[in-house]
Amino acid sequence: MSDSGTARIGVTGLAVMGSNLARNFARNGYTVAVHNRTAARTQALIEEFGDEGTFVPATTPEEFVAALERPRRLMIMVKAGGPTDAVIEEFAPLLEPGDIVIDGGNAHFEDTRRRERELRKRGIHFVGAGISGGEEGALHGPSIMPGGSDEAYTALGPMLADIAAKAHDGAPTVAHIGPDGAGHYVKMVHNGIEYADMQLIAEAYQLLRSVAGYPPARIAETFRAWNEGRLDSYLIEITADVLAHTDAATGKPFVDIVADRAEQKGTGRWTVQIALDLGVPVPGIAEAVFARSLSGHTGLRDASRELPGPVSEPLEGAAAERFAARVEQALYASKIVSYTQGFDQIRAGSETYGWDIDLGAVASVWRAGCIIRAVFLDRITEAYTARPELPSLLSDTGFAQEIGAAQEDWREVVATAARQGVPTPGFSAALAYYDALRAPRLPAALTQGQRDFFGAHTYRRTDREGSFHTLWGGDRSEIPAG
Ligand code: 6PG
Repeated sequence: MSDSGTARIGVTGLAVMGSNLARNFARNGYTVAVHNRTAARTQALIEEFGDEGTFVPATTPEEFVAALERPRRLMIMVKAGGPTDAVIEEFAPLLEPGDIVIDGGNAHFEDTRRRERELRKRGIHFVGAGISGGEEGALHGPSIMPGGSDEAYTALGPMLADIAAKAHDGAPTVAHIGPDGAGHYVKMVHNGIEYADMQLIAEAYQLLRSVAGYPPARIAETFRAWNEGRLDSYLIEITADVLAHTDAATGKPFVDIVADRAEQKGTGRWTVQIALDLGVPVPGIAEAVFARSLSGHTGLRDASRELPGPVSEPLEGAAAERFAARVEQALYASKIVSYTQGFDQIRAGSETYGWDIDLGAVASVWRAGCIIRAVFLDRITEAYTARPELPSLLSDTGFAQEIGAAQEDWREVVATAARQGVPTPGFSAALAYYDALRAPRLPAALTQGQRDFFGAHTYRRTDREGSFHTLWGGDRSEIPAG
């Protein structure tokens, strides 16, 4: 093979994310080879940002690969799915054992597992790296969740640490999540939590608007105040900005001129699909995905607008303020529940796929750079670091106490929403999850009875081992089963 090139890393796929990551590496002193299917983009990057560091532009895959020092580090930043496979097929024959291919897109972790397996046969390391933080994060410091082999991480980790965001304690927001698809899996759950966070914030906004009677500007102030406390997070911060924005064309609040149909590219949906496959209850994340689907279900919504519902006057003065304070409690409690569900899903994935994921490390890399970054993640990091075997976040004494203190207000908010006809699937599902976990007995016993009645599906007893069936169609005596 050809001599080794000088570039420490190469990025192929120079749309905004790829180009910003390449610039981030270059700004951190790394020589970066850059390549794009259409050379004009490579050219544009060099012309506009060439003075930010040392770039080696390449027009062909051969030129690109030759520009990389060995073992080669080649980052693919193209669309997930077919385009990623196409690029891998194009480059793999040009690589050698020991080289590292990094996929920084939002790939499905099953695809990452397959790609890792196939490239491993050729001695090539494949690193599926979840990267969060959008365009700004890619340039100034994302949160990075790489999967793959230990060997690949040793060769890559320090470079990723340089370009990653830094948490307030200076720690870079990157950690080796685990083998094969672990990194993309964790990024998927990050996005599921992102959906849940956004849905809960949306419900809080709706309640403040409909029940407390606040206009968007006042709600922006409320979120700004919340952002000074325990809810301090990127999503709360941008919510205040979006709500404070006025549409230039109409002079109306921006939020009133945007069509109320939320879209999705699919990572939240994947989270729920996988949760269903693994049998992990993530109702908060599921409700967030469904809330987006429902918002876009225009036919159904149009046909249902005349259905009856309660009519109520908004609160005023101190009563409105009191209610707003309750909403903060409900939002915080529901947020704890969403993260509880997300971390439970990560644990389940880790057990199923043998990834041995360190939940404290995951919380730690979410503390800065990513979309769900929040002060709150420091607490989660501490909880899992102190007790890695913690059965759930709700088993942490600190979170349990906080949710306990919030529960009265949380219940009041959910009850008020139900009475006044304001849909709060996120708050309500979170509360139901909390109550279901606390329940000394669940009606699942009755469900088992019904299943045994119509299908002889058997049940277990509380007082003895074994499976049993009742002869429902006969004398209703019980017989041991199986
Ligand atoms: C991130 C974001 C990013 C993207 C999502 C949102 O972590 O940087 O999550 O990955 O914004 O894909 O996607 P939806 O279109 O599904 O809301």
